[in-house]
Amino acid sequence: MIDIHSHILPGIDDGAKDLSESLALLKIAQNDGITHMVATPHIHLGRFNNSTSHIYNDLANLKSHAQAVGITIKLAVAAEVRLDIELMGLIMANKLPFIGQIDTYNYLLLELPHSHVPQGYDKFIMWLAKQNIKVIIPHPERNRDIQANPFYIERLKQLGCEFQLTASSIEGAWGEQAKSVCENMLKAGFVDYIASDAHSVKRRPPILSKAKNVVRELIGDDRTQALFATNPTRLTESLFCG
Ligand SMILES: [Fe+2]
Repeated sequence: MIDIHSHILPGIDDGAKDLSESLALLKIAQNDGITHMVATPHIHLGRFNNSTSHIYNDLANLKSHAQAVGITIKLAVAAEVRLDIELMGLIMANKLPFIGQIDTYNYLLLELPHSHVPQGYDKFIMWLAKQNIKVIIPHPERNRDIQANPFYIERLKQLGCEFQLTASSIEGAWGEQAKSVCENMLKAGFVDYIASDAHSVKRRPPILSKAKNVVRELIGDDRTQALFATNPTRLTESLFCG
């Protein structure tokens, strides 16, 4: 399994506090059967102003410590970027890390606020498309506007977005509404990826196997394999080959 969304870099956002927690998270992931992980620290302007160079340095550091304690998981890095009109400048300056490339498109893990879908989201996503950037929306099931109105999923799909559900939402850890959005999206074929969004050993650990069992019951083996392995492999191939 490939986990494309995790906050395992130490001390850089609200994820792993320090190196020992980062290594503990990697051990949990390895024991769960995860073979590849993408660290996706927040880039949230005004809150987590992480730069690409900082993120790449932190990954190199974590890789060497992980290797030293026998962790075999392959590691790569991107970012979870909070939607903000001011991102336009960073994108034009090529200063945002993408989560992958497919064909000629770059993919951005673009987070909505948890409380609502902001005005102008559609125009911003259309502007990204003109820059050859496709959007993956993480955890749509936890957004309160989306929970209240499934129209947003259809609109985002029309705009060319892909969707990544949180493994623990599928297990019910984020409440019945989030779980129900997950189930409806899975049955409708609207899901492209499932990831842990791991933050700490206690809060959303990097475990995918439990959700995978639930998803298999819902949509069968082949489609489950696409969400946990085939799709994330294709997306992140360029990140891991470097
Ligand atoms: Fe996240």
